[in-house]
Amino acid sequence: MRIGLLTGGGDAPGLNGIIEAVWRTLQPHGHSLIGICDGFEGVFEGRTRNLTANDVGGIHAIAGTVLGTSNRVGTAGREALFLERYRALELDALIVAGGDGTFAGLRSLGASLNLVGVPKTIDNDLSGTDRTFGWDTACAVVADAVDSLRTTAHAHRRVLVVETMGRYAGWIALGGGVAAMADAILIPERPYDAARLANFVKGRHSTQRSFIAVVAEGARATDHALHVARSVEGSPDPVRLGGIGAFLANWLEAETGWEARHVVLGHLQRAHGPSPSDRRLTAALGVEAAMMAMEGAFDQAAVMRQGLVARVPISELMAPARTVPSNEPLLQVALSLGIFV
Ligand code: F6P
Repeated sequence: MRIGLLTGGGDAPGLNGIIEAVWRTLQPHGHSLIGICDGFEGVFEGRTRNLTANDVGGIHAIAGTVLGTSNRVGTAGREALFLERYRALELDALIVAGGDGTFAGLRSLGASLNLVGVPKTIDNDLSGTDRTFGWDTACAVVADAVDSLRTTAHAHRRVLVVETMGRYAGWIALGGGVAAMADAILIPERPYDAARLANFVKGRHSTQRSFIAVVAEGARATDHALHVARSVEGSPDPVRLGGIGAFLANWLEAETGWEARHVVLGHLQRAHGPSPSDRRLTAALGVEAAMMAMEGAFDQAAVMRQGLVARVPISELMAPARTVPSNEPLLQVALSLGIFV
């Protein structure tokens, strides 16, 4: 068989693990793995690579994707051309590791592609799966940053506001913030009451040298709009959030009299080598996706359900985002630790 592999959307630590695991699973069966370069661009422009042992050996430990990716190029309005170019690649199946934007771009074409999906986003908010790879690594970056920043905040008796990624879901801020026992964690699912937050920070000023707030880019006060940084033309979801960290640091300093600074962790959260937990996840999902391609189990995705690998229709990945529910156990842990959430 000639099996294609495409990585689409924003990169997530673990994409290379998927590529290596798929290659290793196919190799003993004599099938070839054709890597498609730069997401959908590679299909439109016919740019592919026949992956060899030298291309994939050991890449599971490295962030990014050796194939390249793009979150700027969709298929909207060009579906027929995409299909024509895809057919020219003469693939028997296509494994796609992507997020909602990538799968939405393939929605109408699925049946003609012999598609196998693997859910991917550091935001951890895709439906159909209990967890996505890259999230645990992003949480580790956040926790590591908070632990480091606490030293300088402590030295200067300051507030430090740490802005994380996550779009409309608070998984990264919550997971990283609890791991580092931050003082406050603000997430989109729980718009904060500004007066309550100011009082909480003031209360800690008399007893603590420093205060660390972890804030998701999609967080906002109850009476405030989202903080939008830019719009990316051509992207399936053009809005890019950002700015709440700076806003909050200034506002808290003015409101409480406690000197404050902010740090935006940004793409560092996608740039760290995958954690062991993310590596195990991508190994398992990569193996499953390769088996599905060999078996002809198309239009399905390899996912995690209750700690086990499972197969679900790809359409399930496109259901509304899986945000942090109000009964999420980590929220209760945060509250019990005295964290403002
Ligand atoms: O969806 C993944 C993600 O990393 C978000 O957490 C973040 O808001 C966005 O992508 C950033 O996108 P870009 O790489 O285009 O700046």
